[in-house]
Amino acid sequence: MSVYKNCLDLIQKKRRTWLITGVAGFIGSHVAQTLLLYNQRVVGLDNFSTGKQENIEELKSAISPQQRENFTFFSGDIRDPELCSHLCKEADVILHQAAL
Ligand SMILES: NC(=O)c1ccc[n+]([C@@H]2O[C@H](COP(=O)([O-])OP(=O)(O)OC[C@H]3O[C@@H](n4cnc5c(N)ncnc54)[C@H](O)[C@@H]3O)[C@@H](O)[C@H]2O)c1
Repeated sequence: MSVYKNCLDLIQKKRRTWLITGVAGFIGSHVAQTLLLYNQRVVGLDNFSTGKQENIEELKSAISPQQRENFTFFSGDIRDPELCSHLCKEADVILHQAAL
């Protein structure tokens, strides 16, 4: 079994909430899509400085309506301490992909 497949199997065993910063970017949107396909909860944060709404639409179109309910998007900035503090409280795992 490949390491990647092994990781996905482990992830699938427990439903977690993943906070993904930069979720409208290249890496963030693809990671979010995969996690949602594995029935995880994803909270995404992006300020669209370089990210695209199309990436969010593309990831939503690749998952089922039920999986879409597990996705929450926040338009905001990682430099907003109140917002980050609020989102971090809900998260089991943080994947930080927001960057210029
Ligand atoms: N794509 C690659 O091949 C690659 C390779 C190695 C490392 N990386 C690193 O991985 C990370 C993500 O890369 P990517 O290709 O997905 O980049 P990307 O530009 O597509 O995505 C970055 C996302 O972060 C968002 N963002 C930037 N500043 C923000 C802020 N202050 N608050 C909220 N959101 C903000 C942008 O709007 C964008 O959606 C970067 O740190 C990059 O350097 C990428």
